[in-house]
Amino acid sequence: MNDPVAAKGDGARPLAARDMKAIMRVQEACYHPSLIEPAEALLSKMLLFPLGAWGCFSGEELVAYIVCIPAEGGDVVALGRPTVSLPRCPDRLHIHDLAVLPAHRGRYIASDLVRKAHDIASWFGHRRISLVSVQGTERYWSGHGFEPIRAMEYAPGVPATYMLKTLGGP
Ligand SMILES: CC(C)(COP(=O)(O)OP(=O)(O)OC[C@H]1O[C@@H](n2cnc3c(N)ncnc32)[C@H](O)[C@@H]1OP(=O)(O)O)[C@@H](O)C(=O)NCCC(=O)NCCS
Repeated sequence: MNDPVAAKGDGARPLAARDMKAIMRVQEACYHPSLIEPAEALLSKMLLFPLGAWGCFSGEELVAYIVCIPAEGGDVVALGRPTVSLPRCPDRLHIHDLAVLPAHRGRYIASDLVRKAHDIASWFGHRRISLVSVQGTERYWSGHGFEPIRAMEYAPGVPATYMLKTLGGP
């Protein structure tokens, strides 16, 4: 079987701890201040599940990233706090963070990274992908087949929607 998460040669590669500074720069350009996570919160997820962190580069510059982590049940992966362990019996892949620098939006970079998340979920046999939609992205995610499950407050005063997609398959 081909490795479904292999880089496509389009400037995408797995992210590593050395990329944290660049990741934080993209994050700060993309999110309302109350949604900015400390580096250690993101890094903890990348270290626990390195296959879930991918970046898109334009030359040497990181222009977009995705961080996914296996999850279990209906619990939402907390924002802003380090994750200390993976669930014993994960039943879904959770897209914890996806961000594209404003100057690079509309070129389907995010869609490529979402496809990567689907590949990772399939590779690990997860039948569902979850996420928390913020900043008015619910329609974006609906376009990718995610359904709203419940409204929630992800950070103080920040409306959000927990969304879920069930993957097809035998
Ligand atoms: C949401 C985000 C990741 C999309 O990145 P992108 O690379 O521009 O998206 P793509 O190029 O893959 O997708 C473009 C398509 O999505 C649509 N789209 C993009 N953002 C949208 C939004 N917020 N709501 C509805 N549709 C949206 C575009 O209109 C376009 O539609 P088309 O296919 O009909 O032309 C990007 O805007 C971003 O980083 N936002 C800030 C961080 C954030 O809020 N992340 C989501 C956390 S849940």
